[in-house]
Amino acid sequence: MKIAMIGTGYVGLVSGVCFAELGFETVCIDKQADKIDGLERGVMPIYEHGLEEMVARNFAAGRISFSTDLAGSVADADAVFIAVGTPSDVDGRPDLSAVYAAAREIANAVTGYTVVVNKSTVPVGTGAEVARVIHETNPDADVDVASNPEFLREGQAIGDFMNPDRVLLGVPSPRAGQVLQTIYQPLKDQGAPVIETVRESAEIAKYAANSFLATKITFINQVADLCERAGADVDDVAQAIGLDPRIGSSFLKAGPGYGGSCFPKDTRGFASVARDYGSDQEVVDAVIEANENRKYRMAERIVDAGGGDLRGKTVAVLGLTFKPDTDDMRASPSLVIVPELQRHGAKVRAYCPGGMGNASEMLEGVDFCDGKEDAAHNADVVVVLTDWAEFKQMDLVQIGQRARGNTLIDLRNLFDPQQVLDAGFTYFSVGRPASQAMQGSDLGAIEDMPRFAAAGE
Ligand code: UDX
Repeated sequence: MKIAMIGTGYVGLVSGVCFAELGFETVCIDKQADKIDGLERGVMPIYEHGLEEMVARNFAAGRISFSTDLAGSVADADAVFIAVGTPSDVDGRPDLSAVYAAAREIANAVTGYTVVVNKSTVPVGTGAEVARVIHETNPDADVDVASNPEFLREGQAIGDFMNPDRVLLGVPSPRAGQVLQTIYQPLKDQGAPVIETVRESAEIAKYAANSFLATKITFINQVADLCERAGADVDDVAQAIGLDPRIGSSFLKAGPGYGGSCFPKDTRGFASVARDYGSDQEVVDAVIEANENRKYRMAERIVDAGGGDLRGKTVAVLGLTFKPDTDDMRASPSLVIVPELQRHGAKVRAYCPGGMGNASEMLEGVDFCDGKEDAAHNADVVVVLTDWAEFKQMDLVQIGQRARGNTLIDLRNLFDPQQVLDAGFTYFSVGRPASQAMQGSDLGAIEDMPRFAAAGE
């Protein structure tokens, strides 16, 4: 069984090397020669834990190779996976031109029976269209087109691939199903559930899964707003509802809004594609709007906590990536929050353990610092935007000594409020009442403190 993987982005590269690890001869193909050159030299185009070692191991064993030659590489493959980018166009619809371009190239290159498999996240109906394009380009091509979406999370992508919650196969024929079942047999042997269904169900399931998770996050973020006003603690509320197995405890962490390469794009893609089918996804529409608004509201809260006017003030921003353990800045809340703070006059000093390289190309006018202590230097307000372990473990007393002001705004609820108070900060977190550092005998301070959400709204 030979596998060709078109596209060496997140999904393509991780899936390709994992197929090699499972024992299949795999070639990863990309148009970008510099990426392919780098991969052959062991240089990873993305930051993913364990990836470099796995590539090196399989490259040395001759199970994985890299190429810019699509036609030559897919010719003798039994399965050709398409894992190219599907960026959003202005209406939120995914741009599928790279998928169809790959389909046309594949059509002229395949020999013998080949299963072409969409791994890219695509709207329902794309598999049928890819099949049409292939047969129109080359009526003699003996090809079936299947759908096999990936549910990888950045930072845990290899673990997610090797120990999946489920493998989803959308197949147009038993023959195509057989090829994919063989490819996933090693994971099945380890206990992974494999769902075989029609292509359209698999396509919808991927969008629906991401939209549902985005909905869960957005829901708890709105509950957090109520908790702030009512004096409740959103983490306790999340625990209490999450223990009901019908709800489930994951993805109930309140924060500054979801970001990343998937949720923002896939919710918008799902809503707009559903509309094309005459099915309004009103819930998902509301989620998209609420999440967008939330990022601006978080910026407003920082401005309010900083006294309403940030002119002449310095804000230290800790964490810029959309989540920890990645260098990915795509749709990160920081891309809205930092410019909003600057618009209100703040000078921003920022540090992120993984995102500094990408952030410096996406954020203007920011002082990028060497570490969290450096970022906190002379800051009036310290803000935590991303839940990196490095921040959770930081010495708050030391950060406080470096800062000029004593306001800590933690949009990820990393700290126990008492711990922050003991370090001398006034503490604003998410979905919990604000707590103010007590000076001397000022014991009424906490009670008098306005609720975080109430300020300025
Ligand atoms: C997501 C899906 O989890 C994955 O299955 C899919 O294949 C791709 O999209 P990823 O984008 O890597 O993966 O990130 P994820 O860990 O899911 O987090 C997405 C965003 O939601 C982040 O901004 C994160 O901070 C936020 N989030 C997540 C919360 O705010 N609260 C939570 O409880 C969980």
